Amino acid sequence: MHATGHAPDRVVIVTGAARGLGRAMTLGLLAAGRRVVAFDLPNSAVALAELAKEAKASGASERLLKVDGDVRLANDCDRTVQAAMDRFGALHAVVNCAALGQDFNMHGDSLPGTGKFYEVRSSVGKQPSTSTSTVHSV
Ligand SMILES: NC(=O)c1ccc[n+]([C@@H]2O[C@H](COP(=O)([O-])OP(=O)(O)OC[C@H]3O[C@@H](n4cnc5c(N)ncnc54)[C@H](O)[C@@H]3O)[C@@H](O)[C@H]2O)c1
Repeated sequence: MHATGHAPDRVVIVTGAARGLGRAMTLGLLAAGRRVVAFDLPNSAVALAELAKEAKASGASERLLKVDGDVRLANDCDRTVQAAMDRFGALHAVVNCAALGQDFNMHGDSLPGTGKFYEVRSSVGKQPSTSTSTVHSV
């Protein structure tokens, strides 16, 4: 991505797009004119559909592509990159927000029924956390 200036046609994959930071990133990028591939777990289809409704209401539906998958699976990631290329013909950045949102243990130990705090899973939560989302240029 360019360090300065506008690049409104840039294509960005946002993981964990159905909720929380990923959702906010997706809506913010669409508002800024970017084309966004919104990626989240298959069981987030309803939340992704709500996101798409909001994008449509703001006139951005043509610049949004929903893809379901799991960031832990290489095939799903490859498929998402291919979907971006097929739909938009380019890919410029990835915003990784897919992760734990609650029920994590800051010391890295498992809570009952959960993984380590740094693993990703389909948690829906609003608890403050210790890590931040990451933007990768590609
Ligand atoms: N919310 C905050 O204020 C805040 C602040 C700082 C850091 N963070 C960190 O940012 C990350 C996201 O937090 P959040 O509050 O947006 O969480 P959230 O639970 O609201 O959203 C996370 C999204 O990631 C998706 N997801 C989980 N595992 C996935 C996987 N394997 N593949 C694809 N999608 C997956 C979930 O379905 C969900 O939609 C976490 O690491 C959190 O610790 C959050």
